[in-house]
Amino acid sequence: MDIQSTYQQAIKFAAAKHTEKNQLIPGSNLPYVVHLSNVAMEIFIAYQNLPDFKLDFAVTLALLHDTLEDTSTTFSDLSKEFGIDVARGVSALTKNKDLPKQIRMADSLNRIMVLPKEVGAVKLADRITNLQKPPDTWDTPKKEKYRIEAIQILQALKGSNSYLEKRLSEKITEYEKYIKEK
Ligand code: NI
Repeated sequence: MDIQSTYQQAIKFAAAKHTEKNQLIPGSNLPYVVHLSNVAMEIFIAYQNLPDFKLDFAVTLALLHDTLEDTSTTFSDLSKEFGIDVARGVSALTKNKDLPKQIRMADSLNRIMVLPKEVGAVKLADRITNLQKPPDTWDTPKKEKYRIEAIQILQALKGSNSYLEKRLSEKITEYEKYIKEK
């Protein structure tokens, strides 16, 4: 299948799932699919700077990365529709809600690190996308925590995707201005 068809199949699947509960981007009235397409966009741009990178795999993961965490989608749905590698990748990108909150990110990062580098690329792209202006409802400690978590992601995935690491590092620095604002 060509990449355009892969993209269409994945974005339609994800959009339908995230729309079931009318999921929006937090702090906005935008449908969640805007976040997903932004993560995919980061991957497309990064691809031009990444050697030996499986673009179709990474873009599919980008579009589906929140389906297990936020929607009724199951591992077996993903496996049937997109194959076991995609299901495993999305699963690693999903926080385990049975664990205490403060170790969920580290646990997810540990599972990401043992998978192909495209999975880590999506994690980096996801946080790059999310380091835009935070919702007005977020207080300073929450923003600070989000910034520290971004540093944790960057450190865990060090050496995997230099282009995306550099971009995330710049976004972390930029984000400081939103913390100082209030
Ligand atoms: Ni996301």
